[in-house]
Amino acid sequence: MTAHIIDGNALAAKIRAEVSGRTAALKARGIQPALSIILVGEDPASQVYTKHKVNDSTETGLAATLERYPADMTEAALVKRIHELNQDPAVHGILVQLPLPKHLDAQKVIETISPAKDVDGFHVASAGALMVGRPGFWPCTPYGCMKMLESIGYDLRGKNAVVIGRSNIVGKPMAMMLLAKDATVTICHSRTRDLKSFTLNADVVVAAVGKRNVLTADMVKPGAVVIDVGMNRNDEGKLCGDVDFAGVSQVAGWITPVPGGVGPMTRAMLLANTLEAAETATA
Ligand code: GUN
Repeated sequence: MTAHIIDGNALAAKIRAEVSGRTAALKARGIQPALSIILVGEDPASQVYTKHKVNDSTETGLAATLERYPADMTEAALVKRIHELNQDPAVHGILVQLPLPKHLDAQKVIETISPAKDVDGFHVASAGALMVGRPGFWPCTPYGCMKMLESIGYDLRGKNAVVIGRSNIVGKPMAMMLLAKDATVTICHSRTRDLKSFTLNADVVVAAVGKRNVLTADMVKPGAVVIDVGMNRNDEGKLCGDVDFAGVSQVAGWITPVPGGVGPMTRAMLLANTLEAAETATA
């Protein structure tokens, strides 16, 4: 068997087009959807990511502002700035790029963001809303994974879903989203014994560990849907996921590639969340 590819680039382009259309409708009412991004320090990867977020926003008609602060910024100053943005009716989404410098308490900082502007979905109120099925922002990566499953018309009801990874940003919210669609969900992690015994029984596997070859062909049920959240480098320095793509694509029914899979979807869902924040605030 050779798996069908779930093309994250194509689906993200569709979502961006939809966001552009709805943004234009808001603008016609005199509302400019706006995202404020805060970057503290000089982390090279964060500089690249935030630049992408600004460019993605601008290309879809959203206004994005990147505010850069020195690595020694105090927590009090950062919290004060977030409070100002919370109060500013012209700002609909607020994103604090992670990781923050060590002296800043990231969770505390995130929890100063108004949940109505928490377009990353990292606030404890957003996590709680997802857990109990109330409206709120969903973290962009698992949200993008759900859109990918939706794009192939996959019915999760009663299916076995295995999430490998238990982070607050991907693994845990992913499990909640799958559960909300009536899948039987198992969360596996670094202390899981005999990972293969779980994945072999899974109709859907989401790999979100950050380690190459966590999922190999011998661990996958024929026809399963495999979603690869990983972003790693192989020995040649090429971007690769957590899944052994060459092997697993011979067994799976559907698979997401890296690059060109979950990555572009994560970026697209931030735009969708920002637009939704603007629509909700101005409804
Ligand atoms: N750092 C790496 N990924 C992310 C993300 O999705 N949001 C934020 N705020 N920081 C990140």
